[in-house]
Amino acid sequence: MERTSRIEGFYKLGMAERLRIVKEFGGLTDQEAMALAGFGGMDPSIPDKMVENAVGSFQLPLGIATNFQINGKDYLVPMAIEEPSVIAAASNAAKMARGKGGFHTSSTAPIMIGQIQLTNVKDPSRVKHVLLERKNDILSLANQQDPMLVKLGGGAKDLEVRVIHTMKGHNVVVHLLVDVRDAMGANAVNTMAEAVAPLVEEISGGKVYLRILSNLASHRLSRARALWSKEAIGGESVVDGVIEAYLFAEADPYRCATHNKGIMNGIDSVVVATGNDWRAIEAGAHAYAARSGLYKPLTTFEKTPEGDLAGTIELPMAVGLVGGATKVHPTARACVKLLGVKTAQELGEVAAAVGLAQNFAALRALATEGIQKGHMTLHARNIVASVGCPPELIDEATKIIIAEKKIRMDRAQEVVEELKRERGIT
Ligand code: MEV
Repeated sequence: MERTSRIEGFYKLGMAERLRIVKEFGGLTDQEAMALAGFGGMDPSIPDKMVENAVGSFQLPLGIATNFQINGKDYLVPMAIEEPSVIAAASNAAKMARGKGGFHTSSTAPIMIGQIQLTNVKDPSRVKHVLLERKNDILSLANQQDPMLVKLGGGAKDLEVRVIHTMKGHNVVVHLLVDVRDAMGANAVNTMAEAVAPLVEEISGGKVYLRILSNLASHRLSRARALWSKEAIGGESVVDGVIEAYLFAEADPYRCATHNKGIMNGIDSVVVATGNDWRAIEAGAHAYAARSGLYKPLTTFEKTPEGDLAGTIELPMAVGLVGGATKVHPTARACVKLLGVKTAQELGEVAAAVGLAQNFAALRALATEGIQKGHMTLHARNIVASVGCPPELIDEATKIIIAEKKIRMDRAQEVVEELKRERGIT
């Protein structure tokens, strides 16, 4: 039977019941389910192997976005994030996209860039050509560093040479284009860049300084698109509202930063849940957004001839499935298993789809009722929970402080105490 991520009322269930459903969907073992639940996740010895001066580990809430259909396949998407509303918004956006077939995605090959900074070059244009003539020698030396990657079909594939202008004059910047397959790729690329630097110096007569990966992974892109029918999202005025919101971001960097932040709410949550380097993804996303010299949205929104809303997203996506925390961290491993992604490209495409969903949800809310209503409901729940409310009273206490418009700790405390007294709960 086809698995469906369309789970009616998932949010209303208790955590244990949600976990049971997720475990079944992902075919997880008891241990993997416990890792998702936050128990038996990180063995106390793991942090010590991952970072220096370790004293413990830090947990974030982990939620599951439902309703995602991507290229005809259903996904339950793990999202690690401290901010309320994000997971509900993504799930809701994905639900509204299902009517028109959900998300469709594509990506480029997983090509990362290793940069070699060459200085002290008097004749940069000639040196650029000479380096390009020696491309095969440079690539072959790079590939000797990682026979395993080459065996898997990856490795250094091409060379780009750019001349840039610094305040001290020219630099010739060599880009090693490395297919890193299912790795994030930083280690493979940095090793290759360091290994070929002496040859680059020998060929050019210049002096190399930096040899390091670029996080502007412009050759490693993930894309997603979706259609939201006007009926599903509240009518043509909502379609128009989302487009107005998008055009605002297109025209104004102050709005655009927030627009792209909303996208990254979704993407980072998936990246963190799968143990990937979210700083790399953030750096790549914002640099890509500014690649024209102007800071622009990572998404687009248009009206189709039928009056529906068409959304797209494209951004660099340097995520991996092998190496790093993804393989070491038990919760990250369980999240990857739940997603059922087989390649880093597939993971990147899921993250892109979540980013698009997240952005659509934010723009729809902002262009209609505003985001505070939804936010405040969740915020009220958090406040009630934070004053030690017994689980069976949380809904009721939340409703009361919302109705009173007193979403504050002191009032939550009073309401919880009153309800406990009424019910004889000590
Ligand atoms: C909040 O984390 C994200 C939003 O501000 C995004 C946006 O404004 O598009 C709601």
